[in-house]
Amino acid sequence: MAKEIHEQPEVVGHTLAHYLDMGSEKVALPTKLPFDFKKLDRVSISACGTAYYAGLVAKYWFERFARLPVEIDVASEFRYREAPFQPGNLAIFVSQSGETADTLATLRYAREQKQHVLSVVNVPTSTIARESDAVMPTLAGPEIGVASTKAFTCQLSVLVCLAIAAGRARGVLSEEDERKLVRALVEVPRLMSEALRVEPQVEALARDLAKSRDVLYLGRGTAYPLALEGALKLKEISYIHAEGYAAGELKHGPIALIDETMPVIVIAPFDRVFDKTVSNMQEVAARGGKIILIGDQRAEHESAIRFFKAITMPDMAADFAAIPYAVPVQMLAYHTAVVMGKDVDQPRNLAKSVTVE
Ligand code: M6R
Repeated sequence: MAKEIHEQPEVVGHTLAHYLDMGSEKVALPTKLPFDFKKLDRVSISACGTAYYAGLVAKYWFERFARLPVEIDVASEFRYREAPFQPGNLAIFVSQSGETADTLATLRYAREQKQHVLSVVNVPTSTIARESDAVMPTLAGPEIGVASTKAFTCQLSVLVCLAIAAGRARGVLSEEDERKLVRALVEVPRLMSEALRVEPQVEALARDLAKSRDVLYLGRGTAYPLALEGALKLKEISYIHAEGYAAGELKHGPIALIDETMPVIVIAPFDRVFDKTVSNMQEVAARGGKIILIGDQRAEHESAIRFFKAITMPDMAADFAAIPYAVPVQMLAYHTAVVMGKDVDQPRNLAKSVTVE
């Protein structure tokens, strides 16, 4: 898992290079699409586990950059809820293995409903890839660790390119908007390398986190799916109970859990919803909660909150912060599990690929 976390700047760099034309600063999809983004009025995304969280981040990107409504659900729910589809729309499936039973079943259902089927997969020979109308590969290389890490950030890289392509095709983004976004995207692998340098801070924090019984993760915007992913990662390899919440949901229930022993990990890059997250941190601070901020220097200074600990990320364009911010989130789960003496590569009860229901 450690190796795969550290490979991310390289594999995300390869993946982005496959989808971007650096010379013209445009998105250049490797495969011709068998549909026209202009003609779509809805996209559905379906996946499981970490791949589902990548899809949830993509929902924010598609809706913002392409003004395309996105419906997203975990495949195990999507497959049985008889969701109505308008024929001719787009259904996207995200999967590292390309063999996940629920995701595959959802794909087949979407095909019956006359959707264009596009998959984002890491294994190009997989069943999901074979049964898709268009395949957008992630170039993560083989992912061995049961806890998905590099596949996740590569999925995000592909999905953001698709969202920008959709935005251009639908006339929501201008050529100049696209250039600006692509210029910011090109910086992502370097930012991930810088993010890896926070590892000593993360390791020190992990020694503390390892003593916890429960951990709460909060985030807003694209940091919300990251909060869910952080909680999943911690649960699956350290067996500490963790929950991810949209920061704004705090006062609708989870605030009741806050006391002096409760670590609350707030993923908050300095973005346009940062002020809102600050008010949630104040609510936690007022109840003596142990706030751990994963944010940049500006976030640390402007929030004027006393953190229990802060992981300081490099400054970056907020649009794609979810990709580099995944790095400390993964490292935190990894180091916590290592401190606790767990086998991070073979966590109990889990299989790398879930090919049965
Ligand atoms: O191969 P897939 O991406 O379809 O797998 C989906 C999930 O089973 C997978 O992401 C799982 O949640 C991982 N253990 C998360 O680390």
